[in-house]
Amino acid sequence: MCGIVGFTGSENAAPIILGGLEKLEYRGYDSAGIAVLNEGKINITKVTGRIAVLNEKTENGALLPGTAAIGHTRWATHGAPTDTNAHPHKSNNGKFAVVHNGIIENYLELKSSLTEKGYYFESETDTEVVVHLLEMYYNGDIKKCVRKVASKLKGSYALGILCTDEPGKIFATKLSSPLIIGIGAGENYFASDVTALVNHTQNVIYLEDGEYAEISPYEIKTFDCTGAEIKKAPSRIDWDIQAAEKGGYEHFMLKEIMEQPRAVKSAITPRIKDEKIVLEDLNLDLSKVRNILITACGSAYYAGCAGKYTIEKLCRIPVQVELASELRYSDPIIDESTLLIVLSQSGETADTIAAMKECSKRGAKTLAIVNVVGSTIAKLADFILYTHAGPEIAVATTKGYTTQLTLLYLFAVYAANNLGKITQDEYKNLINELASIPKLLQNTIDMNSKIGNTAKRYFNTDSMFFIGRNTDYALALEGALKMKEISYIHAESYAAGELKHGTIALISEGTPVIALLCNEDITEKTMSNILEVKSRGARVLAVCFNDNKKITMLANDIISVPRFNSIFSPILEIVPLQLLAYYVAKLNGCDIDKPKNLAKSVTVE
Ligand code: G6P
Repeated sequence: MCGIVGFTGSENAAPIILGGLEKLEYRGYDSAGIAVLNEGKINITKVTGRIAVLNEKTENGALLPGTAAIGHTRWATHGAPTDTNAHPHKSNNGKFAVVHNGIIENYLELKSSLTEKGYYFESETDTEVVVHLLEMYYNGDIKKCVRKVASKLKGSYALGILCTDEPGKIFATKLSSPLIIGIGAGENYFASDVTALVNHTQNVIYLEDGEYAEISPYEIKTFDCTGAEIKKAPSRIDWDIQAAEKGGYEHFMLKEIMEQPRAVKSAITPRIKDEKIVLEDLNLDLSKVRNILITACGSAYYAGCAGKYTIEKLCRIPVQVELASELRYSDPIIDESTLLIVLSQSGETADTIAAMKECSKRGAKTLAIVNVVGSTIAKLADFILYTHAGPEIAVATTKGYTTQLTLLYLFAVYAANNLGKITQDEYKNLINELASIPKLLQNTIDMNSKIGNTAKRYFNTDSMFFIGRNTDYALALEGALKMKEISYIHAESYAAGELKHGTIALISEGTPVIALLCNEDITEKTMSNILEVKSRGARVLAVCFNDNKKITMLANDIISVPRFNSIFSPILEIVPLQLLAYYVAKLNGCDIDKPKNLAKSVTVE
């Protein structure tokens, strides 16, 4: 969702801001803008649509001279995506410009009181109240003024500010929305996330809630919520610029699919030492855990659905998986014996954060499985396991999902051993299987190099079905979501045994049905369901182990994965589904990395 970038240095700021905004495009947005401070005046350019339009309008920044600037990509919430509603917003007296990520929940009441006082609003946004409040409370001391304004705001915000009285400076503050300061040589930055910074610097400072920063080319001053100056230790980002670029692939999504063997290896290898799983960050007495609750949104939720089977099978602890947006308002029955596992690639998903806070309040211990280091969810958790997937740029997650699944598997085997639910031999075998996943993932990718051809028989349709049982059903959920997200084809996931209770009415001549059969115990059952849909005209694409001979008689097309223990096979099985969605979307001419209406990091409820 919305992204912000700020720069101050000795060279022209606009091209740097535009470059940073391009790096934030992946978050999802529908308009963009930039404000540059030059000779005591703030000049703003805003556009509806892509950064390319902003580049064109500003001649790649050349029309906006000045060495301090802020920029924004907006994903519309309050008011349509128009030039006027795009950020930055300027105060009536022209002294301040503001960019904002988050939502000001009390904006209506602030807007009416500001309007009564004579402030004029140009846009329909919640953000505009901030810039008028800055004007109202300013008496020459910007630090005091920002604190005063912050005290009036309810909701979430990362704010970037320019002030004409402060040449060469950019200002930032935050509450419940991420903001990172980048430390350069004779130039400094801020941004919503590290992807906008990595081609300038890998040294960063994570601003915490309530903190405020004054940034000039040679100095970064940080203050806590009382206004006292604080020294914050810089951190080093371990992502480099190559990781955040396409590296010869046509799309980030394809690159990230191909990166999965390496990403999963980074998640597993450091955690297997001397034939044991070591989860150093998980300092928890598992014998006190009576039930596990997994919460997340989108694909992360589906990773939880797949992981549930593995944890329950190995640990014999009941596992419940809940959508974070539902859990937060469900008055959940939770106590100190509940372990809440929170899954999130970005670590910033608003609903997931809210559900996590709700469960913590009720006594649950929280284990976060996250990708982005230093993210809000990582900071809130009692225990953290980082997925080490590297930056994920495509909106539709791939390696984010598989690394989440990897961590759930590691956790399941670790906990089963810890609780004495498996023998030492079983433990060793399971570890060996886990260690073999990166290689098997690579084999799966290689086996499916012709999937682009298979996709030609499935792209021209309005709707398709994904069916499976147990882990295969969990995979059907994610497979269908991938298809919907990037190809805009209606894709319904169904527990194979449930089809006959209604949905089978929708199967007619040529309806594509993707049948998943990598759960050995129940493959035969799903085969019967394949017969049911075939006899009603469905075209069946089966995803199965490469030695499944029976399926050749049943399916119209087959995509195969290496034979593997069914409790871990979803991690292989998802790869052809990702590739299928990718090629179907490509054949349909869709904007694969930036699907319409979607955002990568969903920071609003
Ligand atoms: C958005 C993304 C999905 C992601 C979900 C949860 O909807 O488009 O790909 O699965 O958010 O995101 P998280 O960062 O919490 O994993």
